[in-house]
Amino acid sequence: MKKLAFVLALPVIVVIFLAIYFAGNSSTKGENVKMSNRNLFINASQNRNGNTAKLAKDYFGNQKYKQINLIDYDIKQLGQVKGTDDFEKVRSEIEEAENIVIGTPVYWSDMTGLLKTFIDRHELVDERYNDKNIKIIVQGSGPTDKEIKAISHIIEHFSERFGMEYRGVIK
Ligand SMILES: Cc1cc2nc3c(=O)[nH]c(=O)nc-3n(C[C@H](O)[C@H](O)[C@H](O)COP(=O)(O)O)c2cc1C
Repeated sequence: MKKLAFVLALPVIVVIFLAIYFAGNSSTKGENVKMSNRNLFINASQNRNGNTAKLAKDYFGNQKYKQINLIDYDIKQLGQVKGTDDFEKVRSEIEEAENIVIGTPVYWSDMTGLLKTFIDRHELVDERYNDKNIKIIVQGSGPTDKEIKAISHIIEHFSERFGMEYRGVIK
């Protein structure tokens, strides 16, 4: 009797096992991962795991994202570029992404120099970042609304110039 019950239950067990297997696979392959791999966080802080990075982590939650730290790249000031530096490397990360979050601490009431230099270096860029959207994180020890507004205005200006959809400040 026990043996018969087992034989009858076996196909059900196999079906459940296969369903779990394929469900697990579909959440780690294809669309989901492709979508989530296209979340890019550009950290403009000098700290790779500082307050800016923590806020981005909170924002993305359990979504996958790629973090790049501008501090790890050699991006020269306009007028100081000789040969190639890392500007195109960082730019290509934007081209591959879909959802972009730029995070900056407030330094002297403004965005960091790392971020400003990266934006300035777009002077000679003709390509557009169409179909990408952008949000920003601005944080500091006590940033004023005026400072946050001024910084977000620059990012909005940058977004418009390069055809991105500006989605505002992450609160
Ligand atoms: C050079 C410098 C200037 C700063 N100026 C400001 C400022 O004007 N307003 C402010 O709210 N915080 C200011 N801060 C504080 C940082 O924005 C704050 O510590 C921030 O959380 C650092 O982020 P991080 O941990 O990602 O580096 C300044 C920090 C530094 C290093």
